[in-house]
Amino acid sequence: MSNTPTLAETRQRLERTGQQHLLAFWDRLDEPRRAALLASVSRLPLEHLDSMLSQAASLAKPAAADIRPVRPYLRAMPDAEKFRSIGDDLVRRGKVAAFIVAGGQGTRLGWRGPKGTYPATPVAGKPLFRVFAEQILAAERAYGVRIPWFVMTSEANHDETERFFEDNRWFGRPRGDTMLFVQGMVPSVSRDGKVLLDSPHEPALNPDGHGGSLKALREAGALDHMQSSGIEHLCYFQVDNPNVHVIDPLFLGLHVAAPDSSAEMSSKSVLKRDVTEKVGVFVKAPRLTVLEYSDAPREISEARDADGGILYGEGSIAIHVIGVEFIRKLTDHPLGSVLPWHRAIKKVPFVDPSTGERVEPAEANAIKLESFVFDALHEAEGPVVLRTDRVEEFAPIKNATGEDSPATSKAIQVERAVRWLREAGIPVPCHANGQADCTVEISPLTARGPEDLRRHPPSRPIAAGAEVLL
Ligand code: UD1
Repeated sequence: MSNTPTLAETRQRLERTGQQHLLAFWDRLDEPRRAALLASVSRLPLEHLDSMLSQAASLAKPAAADIRPVRPYLRAMPDAEKFRSIGDDLVRRGKVAAFIVAGGQGTRLGWRGPKGTYPATPVAGKPLFRVFAEQILAAERAYGVRIPWFVMTSEANHDETERFFEDNRWFGRPRGDTMLFVQGMVPSVSRDGKVLLDSPHEPALNPDGHGGSLKALREAGALDHMQSSGIEHLCYFQVDNPNVHVIDPLFLGLHVAAPDSSAEMSSKSVLKRDVTEKVGVFVKAPRLTVLEYSDAPREISEARDADGGILYGEGSIAIHVIGVEFIRKLTDHPLGSVLPWHRAIKKVPFVDPSTGERVEPAEANAIKLESFVFDALHEAEGPVVLRTDRVEEFAPIKNATGEDSPATSKAIQVERAVRWLREAGIPVPCHANGQADCTVEISPLTARGPEDLRRHPPSRPIAAGAEVLL
């Protein structure tokens, strides 16, 4: 027997919550559409919607006067070796899993398909998902351990993502070591709080943001799975950054053993390129917070320190380590997580319940709610920030052209490869100005850093002007 509420029960609930218009087309619907409508209404958080909307509307941004810079750890810290070996030990003992959020639509890039399928690397044109999978595989080989990979998709791209993994035979890793799951959706509502209809039998929904990943991990059973297999920490990253070091022992070690950390959540930063760069920044307000680029007052984003550097310059590259126990704590909540809702006012087409006509609004007409994973920092005890090197770890692909595009990402990927080769003492052909005269890509399966290249140098020298895949 189905657990879906009946029409009478649904009608009562909609009356109670002021959303009766969702049944406006009931009489015109066939049976399958009626069933679909009842089922989707049953999943809407109608009883909580008013409080979600008013919480989002009153979400306080920190006042400039309350904001202070953060003091990050640096990779070249005195105890780096100690932390690295603590991190190595965690990975070796199977305490760590990888976690990518890949539910976004990649609209800015204009790629039709899940963003993780985008051919991102400079020579082989490897898709992003392959780059990450090979990194995980390389770490598994280096540590002699299996590292589960959790992949969050969205309703819009789940099937295609799964097919892509299938078609690529799970990138050479056992099928059971990758777990795909779908993020949640929340209703898109009119400015007066009415859930919009996307069609006569479907409420309009939008993904609940990467903050929804914590709830989705729990609902998909991933948290239970991690706890029963002894996994204690998740290495969180985004789909758009091929230079991420998915498994970073120094970062893991710092997360669990820094004197001021309680191993709940830790983050990586890079120094902002300039004051206009579109990254969130880590600030103290007074707890650790990411101030989104769109929310930062100019006096903060443009403030300079005594040496002329950017005062609030710790840019977030959206790489975190999150404790599994901490995720359980955050998700012990009737709405699935304690993270606050943010709202964006957007254009959302809808079916007008009074006329039955589809409206393509000329102006922004709707409130979309979403939550952000970095808001969890605010809840964490003793979160720490590790400042890392930009070229080494941040080559984002966000826009089709210009900044943070495939072209800039490829240039950074090549810059990193050249740097690794030089550090390993391997000659790289150069122009007169010292710039490399070659396009090099290093597969994660060949080297995870300069050390691996030193141990296994390329069999042939790199020729001037060559495109080389190592
Ligand atoms: C993000 C961060 C910003 C950071 C920058 C670094 C936000 C709001 N901002 O900006 O602080 O400096 O990255 O590159 O996140 N995603 C989902 N489900 C969703 C929404 C997003 O899985 O509902 C995933 C995307 O697939 C992507 C990631 O979250 O992997 C980031 O989303 P995006 O909206 O592209 O963030 P940015 O604006 O680039």
